[in-house]
Amino acid sequence: MNQPRKILVTSALPYANGPIHLGHLVEYIQTDIWVRFQKMRGHACHYVCADDTHGTPIMLRAEQEGITPEELISRVKGEHERDFKGFHIEFDNYYSTHSEETRQLAETIYARLKTRGLIESRTIEQYYDPVKAMFLPDRFIKGECPRCHAKDQYGDSCEVCGASYSPTDLINPYSAVSGARPVRKESVHYFFKLGKCEEFLKDWTRGGALQDEAANKMAEWFEAGLNDWDISRDAPYFGFEISDAPGKFFYVWLDAPIGYMGSFKNLCDKLGLNFDDYWKQDSEAELYHFIGKDILYFHALFWPAMLEHSDFRTPTKIFAHGFLTVNGEKMSKSRGTFITAESYLQQGLNPEWLRYYYACKLNGSMEDIDLNLEDFVLRVNSDLVGKYVNIASRTAGFVSKKFGGSLRAIEEMEHDLVATLQNASDEVSAYYENRDYGRALRKIMELADEVNYYVNDEKPWELAKQEGETAHLHRVCSITLNLFRLLTIYLKPVVPGLAKQVEAFLNLPSLAFADAKTLLPEGHRINAYQHLLTRIDPKQIETLVEANKPTLQAAAQPEPHSEQRHAEHQQHTIHPVADTISIDDFAKIDLRVARIVKAEHVQGADKLLKLTLDIGEARPRTVFAGIKSAYDPAQLEGKLTVMVANLAPRKMKFGLSEGMVLAASDERGGPFVMFPDEGAQPGMRVK
Ligand code: 2FM
Ligand code: ZN
Repeated sequence: MNQPRKILVTSALPYANGPIHLGHLVEYIQTDIWVRFQKMRGHACHYVCADDTHGTPIMLRAEQEGITPEELISRVKGEHERDFKGFHIEFDNYYSTHSEETRQLAETIYARLKTRGLIESRTIEQYYDPVKAMFLPDRFIKGECPRCHAKDQYGDSCEVCGASYSPTDLINPYSAVSGARPVRKESVHYFFKLGKCEEFLKDWTRGGALQDEAANKMAEWFEAGLNDWDISRDAPYFGFEISDAPGKFFYVWLDAPIGYMGSFKNLCDKLGLNFDDYWKQDSEAELYHFIGKDILYFHALFWPAMLEHSDFRTPTKIFAHGFLTVNGEKMSKSRGTFITAESYLQQGLNPEWLRYYYACKLNGSMEDIDLNLEDFVLRVNSDLVGKYVNIASRTAGFVSKKFGGSLRAIEEMEHDLVATLQNASDEVSAYYENRDYGRALRKIMELADEVNYYVNDEKPWELAKQEGETAHLHRVCSITLNLFRLLTIYLKPVVPGLAKQVEAFLNLPSLAFADAKTLLPEGHRINAYQHLLTRIDPKQIETLVEANKPTLQAAAQPEPHSEQRHAEHQQHTIHPVADTISIDDFAKIDLRVARIVKAEHVQGADKLLKLTLDIGEARPRTVFAGIKSAYDPAQLEGKLTVMVANLAPRKMKFGLSEGMVLAASDERGGPFVMFPDEGAQPGMRVK
């Protein structure tokens, strides 16, 4: 192997006021697989995380429960750690942002930014709750929507009509905390001058730290202009008081990413590692942040700007992933698909089923991933149990019964499959490295298929009955179990618990990637085979969903706001998708019949075709459509389809895309492009 790399990895810090659910787990499982892979490759990789403990929601939650914020965050930390452990998420350190390390680092960073002239104070006016004597974040002000007049809407957006506005636009506003009518009140706030970091950020964005989709998003933000960022909050606030500004606290989003450093500092002190080696500006260590795409703004703008201007290194890469949907829809309490980690485990479901399924769905992009519960059952049962575990269960018994548990040595040359599986190591590794776990698993399952074909052809159960076939049987079982061992190495980052059971069964020390180069020696003794993994019974899924449906009493409560994580963030809240849209909303979409004049491959694009579309305008439109996997360009030319004609043009890597063509797809297949019935003409409106 080349020199071991020094790698520091983080996942986003979960808020300390809510349980870990299946949506969170996408990210922790994604990161954990990557970290385990790096460790299995022999690299020095540290995975740190912490609870994100500060802010108004946590302060109020503790008050509601009649406990101190410290008591709340300590209890929740225990629950989070329990859930992570249950899903085999193995942090090297799990800490809290409410720590001395994080406080000191936040002060250092703030002081350095201030010295550089990047902090400014000014007076702003905000809503204030006179009863609670506190300023109110937007999400804690409610009132009537100025557009559709729905009652009890949040201060930043309406969940009924989807409008976004500022709290001052609300009709009859009231404090969600006390019910009082809020008043306007002035106070001094501290701002980070993000605009002054624009040149640096533009350079950094071009430096390869971001996925293409994220870099495009950045370009939009640059275009919209970088606003100063309000980094202080007034007392009462649960957080770090700013040392030179009594009564003012760091906004939770300032110290949250510093919590990555705080947790690592804590680990360094435990292990005797050198913190500066990892965080100094010219550090050779690699730093990766796994995050959800909704918090890209914080990680790709504020965070590198803060680090750069306080003399710390910036991240090597930010890996953003998409959101989780369940059965194609956003998780929902009423449908029973808002499933907590705790209930999944309590219902007796195996965490590795979910790890495997998520891994099958994950790639290195920001696309959303869907947990289709039917497909989940089929995929896990057919791949993990039907293909992988089956290999061992079909052969192990003969080794115990007929050969005293001992294997004979095999040579790489003894069967093509041995070399094929050994040689797959680099390909599988490259997929893991690129977070293309779906591809890694497809490859591994193809190999598992090959091994099963081999066993089918050799029929050890028949050899066992035939006179004079003992040596042949021993050879077949020895080859098969060596192949099983190789598959286990490749699967281990995804299913570490299962791999551990296999290591015990095969009587092996902990497997690493380099072990794929070797085979088991002559006379290697294995242990008696014990059942490794059960199938998912679809009834277990039904019970899980039922268990997560609200009780009658809870059903009367509104659904939790889907973006609670941004309860306090005022400028870049991601607005929830309402379950229904009005006819007016639909009428905003200009759908047109389009003739595909030209369809072409795009050099360097895996998924896209470039379409030239005639919608009866003077100039044809260019649209890049992700349909390459299903269509030959020639087959499309001359056909009619339907396009969204008033979509804002989007600058893509390969050119400007001026709309979108409609195509269907889901787990069952696709994309299937929509073709209108005979008689439709280019330019016709689709209503
Ligand atoms: O969005 C969230 O859930 C935040 N608690 C994530 C913080 S990540 C990092 F910046 F600390
Ligand atoms: Zn509304």
